Amino acid sequence: MPLPGKPFISQARIQKRVREMARDITKHYKNKPLTVVGLMNGSLFFMVDLIRQLPPDTKIECWKVSSYRGKKSTNRIQGLDGYEGNYDGRHVLLLDDILDTGRTLFETRKKLLKAGALSVKTVVLLSKNVPRVCDINADWTGFEIDNRYVIGYGLDYNHLYRPLPMIRILD
Ligand code: IMP
Ligand code: MG
Repeated sequence: MPLPGKPFISQARIQKRVREMARDITKHYKNKPLTVVGLMNGSLFFMVDLIRQLPPDTKIECWKVSSYRGKKSTNRIQGLDGYEGNYDGRHVLLLDDILDTGRTLFETRKKLLKAGALSVKTVVLLSKNVPRVCDINADWTGFEIDNRYVIGYGLDYNHLYRPLPMIRILD
């Protein structure tokens, strides 16, 4: 089966960038209690590759949320109910695959602060160069990209193409 879409970011470039970010993040949280909250399913591969390079006492949580249908944002974040966990006394690194309108990170960040997190910083593999609908930006960004629809390395189109090890453009 031919690969869908066009080449964009290779597996080697992704892995190199993830190593750089992991080093930076480790330095930033040195000796602080850290919990990484990854937003599923899109950030599955990014989360696994990054957290394997963080200190062994890092806690991890996965939250399953969604906002996209096809190539369009539905403007609503689904799935946030039910993640009431206790984040008292923990610094939280909120991790997602891609930052677009900013709604997803904005709403989840609000929820984590309510749950007692000492601080909430954000890391995304990709950040689209578009105006944000919500007032949020990423503290760590893998790659800034133009407003294209991308798939692979966890990113989907209607639940397909997540397993690709590289990122491709599907326009
Ligand atoms: P935001 O809430 O608009 O910032 O969108 C973030 C969410 O939309 C991400 O967690 C992705 O699941 C999804 N998303 C946005 N752009 C893309 C894309 O180009 N490909 C795949 N998913 C995307
Ligand atoms: Mg997502």
